[in-house]
Amino acid sequence: MDWRVKTGITPAAMAESITRLRAAGCVFAEDEAEVLGAAATDEIALRAMVERRALGEPLEQVVGYADFCGVRVRLRPGVFVPRVRSELLVRLAVASAPPGAVVVDLCCGSGALGMAVEHRRNDIDLHSADLDPVAVSTARENLQTPVHQGDLFDALPAATLRGRIGVLIANVPYVATRHIPLLPAEARDHEPHSALDGGPDGLDVFRAVTAEAARWLAPGGVLLSEITEGQAGAAAESVRAAGLDGDVISDEDLEARVIRGRRRR
Ligand SMILES: C[S@@+](CC[C@H](N)C(=O)[O-])C[C@H]1O[C@@H](n2cnc3c(N)ncnc32)[C@H](O)[C@@H]1O
Repeated sequence: MDWRVKTGITPAAMAESITRLRAAGCVFAEDEAEVLGAAATDEIALRAMVERRALGEPLEQVVGYADFCGVRVRLRPGVFVPRVRSELLVRLAVASAPPGAVVVDLCCGSGALGMAVEHRRNDIDLHSADLDPVAVSTARENLQTPVHQGDLFDALPAATLRGRIGVLIANVPYVATRHIPLLPAEARDHEPHSALDGGPDGLDVFRAVTAEAARWLAPGGVLLSEITEGQAGAAAESVRAAGLDGDVISDEDLEARVIRGRRRR
């Protein structure tokens, strides 16, 4: 609901919100105040939300949702906020999934990527999984399809999914440990390090996924993972070592890079 049609929120409260957000260094103070005003139930709630935002919490965690790739995703504090660049993963997953394919969103966080794929392809059999219990319960709020909990493939029901996955989306943590202090405070202080830290070169979790991927993919199935430009060579090597055919797809507008590994037929 727009704050303007709420009796409880006055223009003066909105102006105060903008001033507080500006003072805290929010570049888009007016826009953010609009979003907060629309999410708050009254002025007391608005003030509390503005304060959380002014102290650096991601806007999406404060309002409890993110708009991602055409879907509204519920979010909770401490759950990774889906990034705009991950639209590339969604597009590739949608284009790669054969009719009726099993699609697995491993390291699903809020479940945003699977949700966005399902929104475009209602014929798929979607499974999502994450290690973090808060992420899992958030994903369960977002999805009607199964959300499993556990360490990478250990979370998945082997009897039904092993060797049957048509598209394996794995947006794993891929920030190199030494780069974590360089991330914006929003991510550093409000997203769990387990959602960000990929070890010395950022590829530890990715390597663990590729090592197992060939056993879980169907013939012709693809693994899709976001990486940085600097990781492309090492990621491609890991995919080759796992016996998959690999290539890297980029989208300069999204500033996104995805490594694709395909199991031969
Ligand atoms: C970069 S976030 C991506 C979340 C979501 N896919 C998205 O794009 O919004 C990485 C996710 O991996 C999960 N994760 C980290 N290590 C894991 C592991 N060993 N097994 C399963 N999930 C893991 C984290 O809890 C986090 O939710």
